[in-house]
Amino acid sequence: MTALTVNGRPVRFDIDPDTPLLHALREAANLTGTKYGCGTGDCQACTVIVDGEALRSCLVTIAEAEGRYVTTIEGLSRDRSHPVQQALVAEQAIQCGFCTPGIALAAAALLARNANPTPDQIKAAVPNLCRCGVYPRLVRAIERAGRVARRTETISAAPAPGISADDAARAIPAMDRGD
Ligand code: FES
Ligand code: FES
Repeated sequence: MTALTVNGRPVRFDIDPDTPLLHALREAANLTGTKYGCGTGDCQACTVIVDGEALRSCLVTIAEAEGRYVTTIEGLSRDRSHPVQQALVAEQAIQCGFCTPGIALAAAALLARNANPTPDQIKAAVPNLCRCGVYPRLVRAIERAGRVARRTETISAAPAPGISADDAARAIPAMDRGD
Protein backbone atom coordinates (compact mmCIF):
# COMPACT_ATOMS: atom_id res chain seq x y z
CA MET A 1 0.00 0.00 0.00
CA THR A 2 1.47 3.34 -1.04
CA ALA A 3 0.22 6.42 0.79
CA LEU A 4 0.42 10.00 -0.42
CA THR A 5 -1.64 13.14 -0.18
CA VAL A 6 -3.52 14.16 -3.30
CA ASN A 7 -5.30 17.49 -3.42
CA GLY A 8 -5.21 17.73 0.35
CA ARG A 9 -6.63 14.28 0.98
CA PRO A 10 -4.82 11.13 2.04
CA VAL A 11 -4.86 8.52 -0.73
CA ARG A 12 -3.62 4.93 -0.53
CA PHE A 13 -2.86 2.96 -3.67
CA ASP A 14 -2.99 -0.84 -3.43
CA ILE A 15 -1.19 -1.32 -6.75
CA ASP A 16 2.36 -2.01 -7.93
CA PRO A 17 4.62 0.63 -6.32
CA ASP A 18 6.38 1.00 -9.66
CA THR A 19 3.19 2.28 -11.27
CA PRO A 20 3.74 5.74 -12.74
CA LEU A 21 1.98 8.42 -10.74
CA LEU A 22 0.22 9.46 -13.96
CA HIS A 23 -1.59 6.14 -14.27
CA ALA A 24 -2.34 5.89 -10.56
CA LEU A 25 -3.96 9.32 -10.67
CA ARG A 26 -5.91 8.71 -13.85
CA GLU A 27 -6.94 5.08 -13.52
CA ALA A 28 -6.97 4.38 -9.78
CA ALA A 29 -7.99 7.78 -8.42
CA ASN A 30 -10.12 8.79 -11.46
CA LEU A 31 -8.35 12.17 -11.60
CA THR A 32 -8.38 12.31 -15.38
CA GLY A 33 -7.53 16.00 -15.58
CA THR A 34 -3.90 14.90 -15.65
CA LYS A 35 -3.29 14.10 -19.30
CA TYR A 36 -1.40 11.22 -20.87
CA GLY A 37 0.49 12.58 -23.85
CA CYS A 38 3.71 10.76 -24.68
CA GLY A 39 4.43 8.72 -21.56
CA THR A 40 8.14 9.30 -22.08
CA GLY A 41 8.76 12.67 -20.46
CA ASP A 42 8.71 14.75 -23.63
CA CYS A 43 5.40 16.63 -23.72
CA GLN A 44 4.71 17.72 -20.11
CA ALA A 45 0.97 17.09 -20.55
CA CYS A 46 1.10 14.97 -17.40
CA THR A 47 2.57 17.72 -15.19
CA VAL A 48 1.40 17.80 -11.57
CA ILE A 49 2.78 19.65 -8.56
CA VAL A 50 4.65 17.50 -6.05
CA ASP A 51 5.74 19.27 -2.88
CA GLY A 52 5.63 22.59 -4.74
CA GLU A 53 7.58 21.42 -7.76
CA ALA A 54 6.13 20.82 -11.22
CA LEU A 55 6.94 17.23 -12.19
CA ARG A 56 6.06 14.98 -15.12
CA SER A 57 3.90 12.34 -13.50
CA CYS A 58 4.71 9.78 -16.21
CA LEU A 59 8.30 9.72 -14.94
CA VAL A 60 7.52 9.44 -11.21
CA THR A 61 6.46 6.15 -9.62
CA ILE A 62 4.01 6.13 -6.76
CA ALA A 63 6.79 4.69 -4.60
CA GLU A 64 8.84 7.81 -5.32
CA ALA A 65 5.81 9.96 -4.49
CA GLU A 66 5.10 8.17 -1.21
CA GLY A 67 4.49 10.58 1.64
CA ARG A 68 4.52 13.61 -0.66
CA TYR A 69 1.86 16.21 -1.42
CA VAL A 70 0.49 16.05 -4.94
CA THR A 71 -1.71 18.68 -6.56
CA THR A 72 -3.55 17.91 -9.78
CA ILE A 73 -5.63 20.28 -11.86
CA GLU A 74 -8.71 19.14 -9.93
CA GLY A 75 -7.15 20.47 -6.76
CA LEU A 76 -5.61 23.73 -8.01
CA SER A 77 -8.83 25.46 -7.03
CA ARG A 78 -12.33 24.16 -6.55
CA ASP A 79 -13.94 26.98 -8.56
CA ARG A 80 -11.41 27.94 -11.26
CA SER A 81 -10.36 30.93 -9.19
CA HIS A 82 -6.60 30.40 -9.31
CA PRO A 83 -4.98 33.38 -11.10
CA VAL A 84 -3.52 31.08 -13.74
CA GLN A 85 -6.92 29.61 -14.51
CA GLN A 86 -8.50 33.06 -14.67
CA ALA A 87 -5.76 34.42 -16.92
CA LEU A 88 -5.72 31.42 -19.29
CA VAL A 89 -9.43 31.95 -19.88
CA ALA A 90 -9.18 35.75 -20.09
CA GLU A 91 -6.34 35.61 -22.64
CA GLN A 92 -8.05 32.79 -24.55
CA ALA A 93 -4.87 30.78 -24.25
CA ILE A 94 -6.75 27.49 -24.65
CA GLN A 95 -7.70 25.78 -27.88
CA CYS A 96 -8.31 22.02 -27.66
CA GLY A 97 -7.30 22.14 -23.99
CA PHE A 98 -5.36 18.89 -23.89
CA CYS A 99 -2.14 20.58 -22.77
CA THR A 100 -3.90 23.05 -20.48
CA PRO A 101 -3.91 21.16 -17.15
CA GLY A 102 -0.18 20.55 -17.30
CA ILE A 103 0.47 24.13 -18.34
CA ALA A 104 -1.72 25.50 -15.56
CA LEU A 105 0.14 23.49 -12.94
CA ALA A 106 3.61 24.34 -14.29
CA ALA A 107 2.63 28.02 -14.34
CA ALA A 108 1.15 27.84 -10.84
CA ALA A 109 4.35 26.30 -9.49
CA LEU A 110 6.38 29.04 -11.19
CA LEU A 111 4.25 31.88 -9.83
CA ALA A 112 4.36 30.41 -6.32
CA ARG A 113 8.10 31.04 -6.24
CA ASN A 114 8.26 34.04 -8.61
CA ALA A 115 5.11 36.05 -9.18
CA ASN A 116 6.82 38.41 -11.64
CA PRO A 117 8.59 36.17 -14.15
CA THR A 118 10.14 37.39 -17.39
CA PRO A 119 9.03 35.84 -20.69
CA ASP A 120 12.26 33.83 -20.77
CA GLN A 121 11.64 32.55 -17.24
CA ILE A 122 8.11 31.58 -18.25
CA LYS A 123 9.34 29.70 -21.32
CA ALA A 124 11.95 27.88 -19.21
CA ALA A 125 9.51 26.94 -16.45
CA VAL A 126 6.62 26.06 -18.77
CA PRO A 127 8.20 24.13 -21.65
CA ASN A 128 5.00 22.18 -22.24
CA LEU A 129 4.21 21.17 -25.81
CA CYS A 130 1.03 22.54 -27.32
CA ARG A 131 0.03 21.11 -30.65
CA CYS A 132 -2.44 23.96 -31.14
CA GLY A 133 0.33 26.55 -30.79
CA VAL A 134 -1.01 28.80 -28.05
CA TYR A 135 2.50 29.86 -27.04
CA PRO A 136 2.29 33.68 -27.54
CA ARG A 137 -1.01 33.89 -25.69
CA LEU A 138 0.36 31.57 -23.05
CA VAL A 139 3.19 33.89 -22.12
CA ARG A 140 0.76 36.82 -21.97
CA ALA A 141 -1.61 34.80 -19.80
CA ILE A 142 1.09 33.78 -17.32
CA GLU A 143 2.39 37.35 -17.10
CA ARG A 144 -1.17 38.44 -16.42
CA ALA A 145 -1.66 35.71 -13.84
CA GLY A 146 1.43 37.06 -12.12
CA ARG A 147 -0.15 40.52 -11.96
CA VAL A 148 -3.28 38.99 -10.46
CA ALA A 149 -1.19 37.05 -7.95
CA ARG A 150 0.62 40.29 -7.03
CA ARG A 151 -2.76 42.03 -6.73
CA THR A 152 -1.91 44.70 -9.31
CA GLU A 153 -4.77 43.52 -11.53
CA THR A 154 -8.04 41.71 -11.12
CA ILE A 155 -9.85 39.54 -13.63
CA SER A 156 -13.56 38.97 -13.66
CA ALA A 157 -14.51 35.53 -12.49
CA ALA A 158 -14.24 32.77 -15.08
CA PRO A 159 -17.53 31.33 -16.32
CA ALA A 160 -19.13 28.97 -13.85
CA PRO A 161 -18.44 25.29 -14.56
CA GLY A 162 -21.33 23.31 -16.00
CA ILE A 163 -21.23 21.18 -12.86
CA SER A 164 -21.00 22.36 -9.28
CA ALA A 165 -17.67 21.84 -7.56
CA ASP A 166 -19.33 19.62 -4.96
CA ASP A 167 -21.06 17.43 -7.57
CA ALA A 168 -17.80 17.12 -9.49
CA ALA A 169 -15.99 16.13 -6.31
CA ARG A 170 -18.60 13.51 -5.47
CA ALA A 171 -18.04 11.95 -8.89
CA ILE A 172 -14.34 11.55 -8.11
CA PRO A 173 -13.66 9.34 -5.07
CA ALA A 174 -10.26 10.89 -4.39
CA MET A 175 -11.87 14.33 -4.17
CA ASP A 176 -14.94 13.37 -2.14
CA ARG A 177 -14.73 15.01 1.23
CA GLY A 178 -17.67 12.96 2.47
CA ASP A 179 -19.60 16.03 3.56
S1 FES B 1 2.93 12.17 -20.75
FE1 FES B 1 4.36 13.35 -21.95
S2 FES B 1 5.79 14.06 -20.44
FE2 FES B 1 4.46 12.76 -19.34
S1 FES C 1 -4.49 23.85 -26.64
FE1 FES C 1 -4.45 22.04 -27.89
S2 FES C 1 -2.58 21.06 -27.37
FE2 FES C 1 -2.50 22.98 -26.39
